Amino acid sequence: MRQQEYNIRENRPLTQNVQCLVLELPVDAPDQEPQTPGQFVNIRLEGFYLRRPISICDWDARTLTLIYKIVGDGTAKLAAARPGETLDALTGLGNGFTLPMQENALSLLVGGGVGTPPLYGLAKQLRAAGHAPVAILGFNTAAEAFYLDAFAAVCDDVILTTVDGSAGVQGFVTDALPLLQSSPAALYACGPEPMLRALYSAAPPLPPGCAQFSFEQRMACGFGACMGCSCKTTAGYKRICKDGPVLLREEILWAK
Ligand SMILES: Cc1cc2nc3c(=O)[nH]c(=O)nc-3n(C[C@H](O)[C@H](O)[C@H](O)COP(=O)(O)OP(=O)(O)OC[C@H]3O[C@@H](n4cnc5c(N)ncnc54)[C@H](O)[C@@H]3O)c2cc1C
Ligand code: FES
Repeated sequence: MRQQEYNIRENRPLTQNVQCLVLELPVDAPDQEPQTPGQFVNIRLEGFYLRRPISICDWDARTLTLIYKIVGDGTAKLAAARPGETLDALTGLGNGFTLPMQENALSLLVGGGVGTPPLYGLAKQLRAAGHAPVAILGFNTAAEAFYLDAFAAVCDDVILTTVDGSAGVQGFVTDALPLLQSSPAALYACGPEPMLRALYSAAPPLPPGCAQFSFEQRMACGFGACMGCSCKTTAGYKRICKDGPVLLREEILWAK
């Protein structure tokens, strides 16, 4: 974990209530460690006691790209931040996605809403490692969709679903599963819990370790110290911020 003051390079709307934030290290700061896709940052906002966790969408040695939805006071404050201002973030948080062991694996990425951003960084890494990422990206409406061209640039195929049918396949991400040309060797998912639950049941069976689901949980410290984000798994209690947010399919125990 590293606490770092970043300069805001960009903070622009992608849709009506989703923003893209690009953070840049100050010139005198050393390069940041490579991130693992699925890891997150915890952002300090003036006037808020708790930091706000946001997944890392993309990165290089000097920048981080985050995509966030304005849902409450904290994210509204973040949206008001302007280029040239600074932001304090804890980085290197969480246990991210693991790439497939086998070569040229067809990897299925399934994302819903603001669960899609961490899958973009993962798709880039999969592509760079010689795998074939295919994405199913679900949104409520066409107007809420974002980053489709970016995913298309690094994936073999991108299937868009919208609940209202205004673009792509009408329905939920699970409605697109029958459209897959071949069976995936790995499955990666991030999105709202109802989506993860539906996918957990509907996705094809895969060997242990090959299906990875990223979870959100209300967080306090964000780095494993307070136990505030603990949840019960088949492997005992796990802290979503430190042992997760990525859990293996076989570890998941759904709350009744
Ligand atoms: C590991 C992780 C990664 C995330 N990545 C993203 C992302 O890439 N893009 C994005 O738009 N959102 C992401 N979220 C959700 C994001 O953290 C919340 O939407 C945000 O904290 C809401 O803050 P707020 O003050 O606007 O809302 P409020 O509802 O006013 O927040 C009140 C409190 O609840 C917490 N909180 C509210 N919603 C959530 C939530 N879903 N998960 C965890 N804590 C929450 C806040 O941190 C705060 O402490 C992520 C959450 C987690 C845990
Ligand atoms: S938020 Fe403190 S242990 Fe996870």
